[in-house]
Amino acid sequence: MIELKGIKKSFGSLEVLKGIDLHIDKGEVVSIVGPSGAGKTTLLQIMGTLDKPDAGTVVVDGIDVSRMGEKKLSEFRNRHVGFVFQFHQLLPEFSAIENIMIPAFIAGRSPKESKQRAMELLEFMGLADRAHHKPNELSGGEKQRVAVARALVNNPAVILADEPSGSLDTKNKEELHQLFFDLRDKFGQTFVIVTHDEQLASITDRTIHMKDGRIGDGNESSVEKLTS
Ligand SMILES: Nc1ncnc2c1ncn2[C@@H]1O[C@H](COP(=O)(O)OP(=O)(O)OP(=O)(O)O)[C@@H](O)[C@H]1O
Ligand SMILES: [Mg+2]
Repeated sequence: MIELKGIKKSFGSLEVLKGIDLHIDKGEVVSIVGPSGAGKTTLLQIMGTLDKPDAGTVVVDGIDVSRMGEKKLSEFRNRHVGFVFQFHQLLPEFSAIENIMIPAFIAGRSPKESKQRAMELLEFMGLADRAHHKPNELSGGEKQRVAVARALVNNPAVILADEPSGSLDTKNKEELHQLFFDLRDKFGQTFVIVTHDEQLASITDRTIHMKDGRIGDGNESSVEKLTS
């Protein structure tokens, strides 16, 4: 599903990723953990083609995106990758259902089809009655679920989430995490989730430990494990 080989990335003289090899299978829910500045977001952005590595190859959904141009890449992202960020990043002037429909329009689907798909997703999220509310009329947990629905609208191969529950309280956090596993169980949805939440990391299929731009086996964080 995702295959990274020899990924390196520097910002100026700062070497952020020092050679990352990673394989993620379809239907896996993988967490990425590690201290602040370890390179987690940078890695996720490269996986999602939002940023380019200095060296190495990125294959997503069987397609080598390493040498694709910007126009092709934005088309590729729209169809193959869903993003969920810490802060929902919904468009404030549009309702929940409109926010979900936008990526479907961009992919060339008809308004009718887009609306139907968006409504299906809202129903799945238990948010059908919030469809016509704007983001500032939704709770934090509701906004994040709408953001997940938006990420799902074009049936992406993978959803990449960067601290998706970082701004939620315990109850909303647990509901969001449960939603990820429901989507995996029902639709085989693949997830890669960067998180500082140990509880979430502990229930994912696999946890990738990042430190100083490298992937470790997690042994170096044995203290973290003992306390979790
Ligand atoms: N566009 C950029 N230009 C320069 N430096 C950057 C850029 N993006 C990230 N960095 C630096 O690269 C390093 C890794 O950043 P990254 O955002 O990947 O860390 P992270 O593991 O996601 O951390 P956090 O847990 O705090 O989100 C940091 O030192 C950061 O300051
Ligand atoms: Mg980050």
